Amino acid sequence: MAAKWTPDSWTTHEARQLPTYPDAAALRAATAELGSYPPLVFAGEARDLKAELATVAEGKAFLLQGGDCAESFAEFHPNNIRDTFRVILQMAVVLTYASKLPTVKVGRMAGQFAKPRSADLEEQDGVALPSYRGDIINDIAFAPDGRVPDPQRMIRAYSQAAATQNLLRAFAQGGYANLHQVHRWTHDFMGRSPWARKYAETADRISDALEFMAACGISPDTVPQLKATQFYTSHEALLLPYEQALTREDSLTGDWYDTSAHFLWIGDRTRFDGSAHVEYLRGIGNPIGMKCGPSLEPDALLRLLDTLNPAREPGRMTLITRYGYDKIESGLPRLVRAVQREGHPVVWSCDPMHGNVVKANNGYKTRPFDRILAEVRGFFAVHRAEGSFAGGIHAEMTGQNVTECTGGAVAVTEQSLADRYHTHCDPRLNASQSLELAFLLAEMLNQEVKERRKAAA
Ligand code: TRP
Ligand code: MN
Repeated sequence: MAAKWTPDSWTTHEARQLPTYPDAAALRAATAELGSYPPLVFAGEARDLKAELATVAEGKAFLLQGGDCAESFAEFHPNNIRDTFRVILQMAVVLTYASKLPTVKVGRMAGQFAKPRSADLEEQDGVALPSYRGDIINDIAFAPDGRVPDPQRMIRAYSQAAATQNLLRAFAQGGYANLHQVHRWTHDFMGRSPWARKYAETADRISDALEFMAACGISPDTVPQLKATQFYTSHEALLLPYEQALTREDSLTGDWYDTSAHFLWIGDRTRFDGSAHVEYLRGIGNPIGMKCGPSLEPDALLRLLDTLNPAREPGRMTLITRYGYDKIESGLPRLVRAVQREGHPVVWSCDPMHGNVVKANNGYKTRPFDRILAEVRGFFAVHRAEGSFAGGIHAEMTGQNVTECTGGAVAVTEQSLADRYHTHCDPRLNASQSLELAFLLAEMLNQEVKERRKAAA
């Protein structure tokens, strides 16, 4: 694709999943205002993340990406941000401790507002209204006014993203993420979970090692890596007018970056040949992800990789596979083989959430935890068999004690789904289930790393 790219060249391509704003002048006014606002991230940070992801592509680090399916205006609260952040830290500690590999931490946070929908209209009792597409576009309540796409919502989403980003930076750099705090990241409500006990054991060992090192003169004062972490943000680049408004030319390199987040991904429904979303993403310098589901053919994947990463830059592309627990072992090998044959450097990451949605008998949309774990196991098994590196996890999760996915050590049953079902979109893992997932991942990653070291020796 030799055609010239500009931040708005996507507008001449086929765009699916975008809202139709009834008031074109209001849309222009909102995007012009956003265009005058400061970037939320700096291009140099996006390059740092790309370099870290390049080490994941090489099998020398692991990618942990997680957060809400959809952030919402109603649940915007510092405690929610802190609680999701601390679970991600706990998961990172567990993974790093078991595998002895660095963990690259990326939140689905500070901008994850827009949702693709299977139908343009939602019908209730004979009334049809535009579908809810996320708080950045319209209102979740089924009422005619609120469902009209309102461009001013982009301004509100931007300010929420800015405040969230600011708090995450403060937590990551300001002392909350200091490894000496490893015991404090546990939630009170996790007390009953056997995984909380197991976490306490890991934290004990880390504390012990830190005390020993402190006696040897290695402390957060002498080694700043102990007292801070890099925490990156990401979301699906779905609402292109918003992303375009935050696209800026980097003053250091002259390249274009989407400064709404460090990492952007393209969804399974918008990654077709000729898509406006593909056109937009090909021109930005950020590291990007692409969701890969059962409908993606190896040829189409290779064409997309050639378009999105023609220079084959390591760290640029993360392929996030989402097959379903019963399809991954038959579907994924073809993609892995095609990518390996062509020599495209990619990070392989597992989204065990989106292929495993079921409707409970009482009508709740849920995800059985067993199936989530089964897809993760299948993911590792395929990569072991193909000689590729199972490099990451992409989870919909929250630090809250919700009851949205069934199962786990402190079992959520179908009956208890009604207790604390708060999601604005898909069901999320709660804090205990997230930690349990981290221990399973740690075990498999540890095995994988050992085998790779043995094979290399
Ligand atoms: N800076 C290192 C890292 O981010 C070590 C570290 C500091 C860390 N705080 C952490 C690791 C919290 C995991 C969780 O990997
Ligand atoms: Mn989702």
